[in-house]
Amino acid sequence: MQPVLNYLKQHQSQAEQELCEYVRFPSVSAQPAHACDMKACAEWLLAHCRKLGLDARLCPTPGNPVVVAKTPRHKSSGRKRHFMVYGHYDVQPAEPFDLWKSPPFTPTIRGRSLVGRGASDNKGQNLAHLKAVEAYLRTGTELPCDITFAIEGEEEVGSKNLPGFLKKHRKELDIDAVVVSDTGIPARNLPALTYALRGIAALEVRLTGPDRDLHSGMFGGSVLNPAVALCQLLSRIHDADGRVTIPGFYDGVVAMTPAQRRDMARLPFSERDYRKFLGVATLFGERGFTPVEQRSARPTVEINGLTSGYQGVGSKTIVPSWASAKITMRLVAKQTPAQVIKAAKSFLRRHCPRGVSLEIKSGHGAEAYLMSPDSPDARAALRALRGAFGTEPVLLREGGSIPIVNEFKSILGADTLLLGLALPDDNAHSPNEKFDLDIFARGQRMSALLWQELAKG
Ligand code: BES
Ligand code: MN
Repeated sequence: MQPVLNYLKQHQSQAEQELCEYVRFPSVSAQPAHACDMKACAEWLLAHCRKLGLDARLCPTPGNPVVVAKTPRHKSSGRKRHFMVYGHYDVQPAEPFDLWKSPPFTPTIRGRSLVGRGASDNKGQNLAHLKAVEAYLRTGTELPCDITFAIEGEEEVGSKNLPGFLKKHRKELDIDAVVVSDTGIPARNLPALTYALRGIAALEVRLTGPDRDLHSGMFGGSVLNPAVALCQLLSRIHDADGRVTIPGFYDGVVAMTPAQRRDMARLPFSERDYRKFLGVATLFGERGFTPVEQRSARPTVEINGLTSGYQGVGSKTIVPSWASAKITMRLVAKQTPAQVIKAAKSFLRRHCPRGVSLEIKSGHGAEAYLMSPDSPDARAALRALRGAFGTEPVLLREGGSIPIVNEFKSILGADTLLLGLALPDDNAHSPNEKFDLDIFARGQRMSALLWQELAKG
């Protein structure tokens, strides 16, 4: 084992350079203009895996390909436990560009961080696992487990082609569990095993009024303004206590146990620092819950985007023809996307003001994820975290979503170990995303130790 850890130490700066190469691809899955970059990034990853000695190929999907890479299998050594490492090479859009201190796809090392879109979410995190396997292969150290990497290109747009991929390759993916580093840790010296994620359900609402933009002086006052109507409609979704008013929205929600609430209360958290970190004067959330609970263990409805009327410089006096909103709901166990979408649609229809017509499109959806942090594999993961970080790991519930983890269970029958490496201030999905290079190194060590621990079964 020591040669593996030594190798990682000696090759750290090379690994950082490789992460720069990886981040240089603008692999934005949401934007069709980046289709070529998606392909180029997948091909870079494929070549990289092959260079490390993995048996790698691109599996096409109706969308972006999945990079599949397997550690060499030696028939002589008998059956080893088999794990899949899942990650994604696609990234969120980098807009607004003008808020970046260095261009998003020109990776820049600043202090002990690598700045660039995708550095933390998720390229740095999946590369850490590849580097650990490289260390085993290059030092001739036998890997105690068989590992199959599956790194996809559509996570940030809902992984809609991945269930098909899993079904098609189910035989090959006869795994004991999935390992995913695509979540967070509370602080640099506080590693974590995430045992719960929120689910998600997306909606797009569009209100249409007059059949064209109108002069607001000549016609305003005599027709319902769709932008005003949308504001009225959306303002009904929450009450003054921060609760969602949609009937049926909370149906099935499993309450937190006293033990879970106690664990959450024990996490390091300062309201003052948190406010400062977010740049807000006061916090606001569902009454009766702490901020830690509100953002990880309670369901929410968020407006992600609002569009209507004139958006250019200066003013333009119009009654816009239409107004639209992008909405996502974060779910907890046992809500389902179908249930909340149905509830939201009927609520919006019932309260839509007369004088505009309403159109609702529903988008991607995924249920929440909850696993037992007491299983032997979870305990093995906690040992690897402790070994790599040198401190006692915490158990986390997190508010983000990784839609595919439920399908890992339903299609492959496998639990997912969420061993994230992102810091709260990594700026995932925001301008100036970065990845901490010390955590990159610890992540590689954690992965190296993990295979030893998991092999014990
Ligand atoms: N890495 C995140 C998920 C995440 C973030 C989990 C923080 C836990 C803590 C992932 O890449 C992501 O952003 N997922 C999207 C899913 C959506 C686009 C379907 C999300 O949560 O918004
Ligand atoms: Mn993300």
